[in-house]
Amino acid sequence: MSNPNPIGIFDSGVGGISVMNEIRHLLPSEDIIYYADSAHCPYGSKDPAFIRRRIKNVTGFLTGFKVKIIVAACNTASIAGLDFLRQVFPLPIVGMEPAVKPAAAITQNGKVGVMATGVTLAGNRFHSLVSRFAGNTEIITVPCPGLVERVEMGLINDPETERLLRKFLDPLITSGVDTVVLGCTHYPLLRPLVELIVGPDVAVIDTGKAVARRVAQVLTDDNLLKNGTDCGREKFFTSGNPDTVGRAISILWASPNANEVKQEML
Ligand code: DGL
Repeated sequence: MSNPNPIGIFDSGVGGISVMNEIRHLLPSEDIIYYADSAHCPYGSKDPAFIRRRIKNVTGFLTGFKVKIIVAACNTASIAGLDFLRQVFPLPIVGMEPAVKPAAAITQNGKVGVMATGVTLAGNRFHSLVSRFAGNTEIITVPCPGLVERVEMGLINDPETERLLRKFLDPLITSGVDTVVLGCTHYPLLRPLVELIVGPDVAVIDTGKAVARRVAQVLTDDNLLKNGTDCGREKFFTSGNPDTVGRAISILWASPNANEVKQEML
């Protein structure tokens, strides 16, 4: 059996493109609809109830395309509302969480830094993740206000972005962490700068590849994969300014066939 319907992916903005890149790599034939809620970005400083209202609207919009699975490519949205979304929508929904478990497994010195948004770090889901999986590992958390906005502007390699990153990473370096978790989907798009700042002895990890594997697994288990070898197509929508979002996506989207971005207010 085969299912040609698209995969729906959303984020507060363009950060979910880091996850979409991994999904496209693993599932080259699948069609993908991406929604960037850039008019309401960043989610990381908003009230969780507001975030739940937004992601309900966005998921409703994506289901209008008969998507066969939803990927909440946003740690903040997943922490604030994954359970809620699953109660409202009767289709598979894959979410994200910071890579605390893999970090605790690979750290050599028992010191891990987690970069994420304020909402993610304050969420019950995050606290439960730490108490279930950190064990004796010391978890040092850093909220990173302002970083998401740099990525939204496509400024992934400029002096002000580097200055901000150094400010957030300095305390982690001083604490001697040997592993840094990128706990927001915008941050893997800054990986080259992060790696430059922390140096080669610090592992920098995120969950993009694991989420892509999970999506492939769910589609396989539920007989929802699309048959055939055609290249999958992508459509991009945003609540933000389509020119600004389009410019950022053309920088961040690894696949060569980037498309125009349509504005859709929800
Ligand atoms: N990309 C998001 C995340 O994974 C949200 C960032 C934000 O909007 O603050 O957490």
